[in-house]
Amino acid sequence: MTYRIALIPGDGIGVPVTKAAMEVAQKVLPGLECTSFPWSCDHYLQTGRMMPEDGIATLRGFDAILLGAVGWPARVPDSVSLHGLLLPIRKAFVQYANIRPHRLLPGVQGPLRRDGFDILCIRENTEGEYSGAGGRVHVGKPDEVAVETAIFTRVGVERILRFGFEQARRRRGKLASVTKSNAQKHSMVFWDEITDLVAADYPDVEASHYHVDAICARMVMAPETLDVVVASNLFGDILTDIGAAIQGGLGFAASANINPGRTAPSMFEPVHGSAPDIAHLGIANPIAAIWSASLMLDHLGEAAAAARIMSAVEATSARGIGTVPGQDRTDIITKAVLAALE
Ligand code: IPM
Ligand code: MN
Repeated sequence: MTYRIALIPGDGIGVPVTKAAMEVAQKVLPGLECTSFPWSCDHYLQTGRMMPEDGIATLRGFDAILLGAVGWPARVPDSVSLHGLLLPIRKAFVQYANIRPHRLLPGVQGPLRRDGFDILCIRENTEGEYSGAGGRVHVGKPDEVAVETAIFTRVGVERILRFGFEQARRRRGKLASVTKSNAQKHSMVFWDEITDLVAADYPDVEASHYHVDAICARMVMAPETLDVVVASNLFGDILTDIGAAIQGGLGFAASANINPGRTAPSMFEPVHGSAPDIAHLGIANPIAAIWSASLMLDHLGEAAAAARIMSAVEATSARGIGTVPGQDRTDIITKAVLAALE
């Protein structure tokens, strides 16, 4: 089976880690055809755009997108780069489910010094606090006003919760729905109500409500009590940095921006950013990107190939390779994963 993959390495460490991830993915699945796009902050400085005007139309023809990282704030403001490349793809392709697995790989200690947790965060990825509705008036004046409106739609909230319940059903049967309905009495009470409505269709799943502050503490104090966690766009963004931290760091945090209806390509990316501070040192951990490539193969229906990648990653980390941030070089870790595939 052949698949057409659009590769967007992007900025900074996005370049070496996606190179590593494609190498590993093509080793398990030689039928992956990869087309690379140079869209990045460099591209912006050369052309005035993060991606060409027909960028979305171009990407639409692919089976999946593998993205490295976007942003180089010293040269292009994040508000320009991210709204010019990453965020429009998530929205345009209705990648409403952002899936982020948080568990310790063998050999990784993690700051909690405890194992036994396996959390799947599912972040709403197209609306909520990232809707982009708002504006500024009286700019620069003493009476300046800035408004950023979080938008929650019945369709948007219901579909992400339904997606979460489906995942919970296939895992340990527990779902935590995250809001802040004690303080935000419109949108978050709405989210709570829809959680209860959808939960009625999944009597086999144990659903709980958490406030976002309380679940932050729980992810640190008792992460083993959580299974599937469903949250809004911004809450999910914040929770998944905690998730990344407890799994040993951003170098291990994979993610998948999924269009569950498969009406457009899904996009796979490590959670980490471009890391300008270490971008030229050759020490970026490719594991988050390789894990993301495994999520990509799984989404393409290649479960066995996806599992082979994860076994190779686990065999590598179990040997202590790539487990301590900055200790092993990107190419050493990549070679070890490729060797584990033999
Ligand atoms: C993430 C990132 C992005 C987000 C940024 C870079 C816009 O933090 O994927 O978690 O907030 O979604
Ligand atoms: Mn984030």
